[in-house]
Amino acid sequence: MTKLAVIYYSSTGTIHSMAKRLAEAGEKAGAEVRLRQVPELAPAEAIASNAAWSQHFDATKNEPKATANDVVWADAVLFGTPTRYGNVSSQLKQFLDTLGPQWMQGLLANKVYAGFTSTMTAHGGQESTLLALYNTIYHFGGLIVPPGYTDPVKFADGNPYGVSHVTGGNNDAPLGDAQIGALDHMAERVVNFAAKLSA
Ligand SMILES: Cc1cc2nc3c(=O)[nH]c(=O)nc-3n(C[C@H](O)[C@H](O)[C@H](O)COP(=O)(O)O)c2cc1C
Repeated sequence: MTKLAVIYYSSTGTIHSMAKRLAEAGEKAGAEVRLRQVPELAPAEAIASNAAWSQHFDATKNEPKATANDVVWADAVLFGTPTRYGNVSSQLKQFLDTLGPQWMQGLLANKVYAGFTSTMTAHGGQESTLLALYNTIYHFGGLIVPPGYTDPVKFADGNPYGVSHVTGGNNDAPLGDAQIGALDHMAERVVNFAAKLSA
């Protein structure tokens, strides 16, 4: 059975929703799935200053946390992060930065990887965030399997680099049909590629 790890950080729930959808789609595609949250790093006062962040933190603080073993275990890994100034969040980056021992042993290489992100605005940095995330994957020796425009759904969401969502000003725009279709497609695509690699 192909093993898929969905590893994400989310402050206010958008990336969490996307991660859950990817995990469900990965299971439908026949994979064994680990859905894992990376630990929060922000100080308590920063979280408390934002009601949506506090609510999401409290609601998800007991979810399974990502470990290096989840990446080593997986045949395919999907990393998710909200954009931070067009870049990867420090929380996900911190997790990636703890993978040095596994990287040095070559345990992160030769796997399938792709990414997902969300921004407040349409041009707020979705592409730059995914490209920044992929810098790390090159160092792993990973195989980035971007969705490209390999399915009609990609002409609806329009992001060949991964999957992304625009949350709008209140960070509460729900995922639409275009994003859901693109998430399902990306999960199925990486699972299928990983299965072919293992064969
Ligand atoms: C410090 C910080 C920096 C951000 N930078 C950007 C940005 O550059 N562009 C943008 O569109 N949104 C930006 N945002 C908004 C987040 O990307 C948005 O809140 C995210 O999609 C929410 O995802 P989440 O609900 O999973 O936390 C920023 C938010 C924070 C807190």
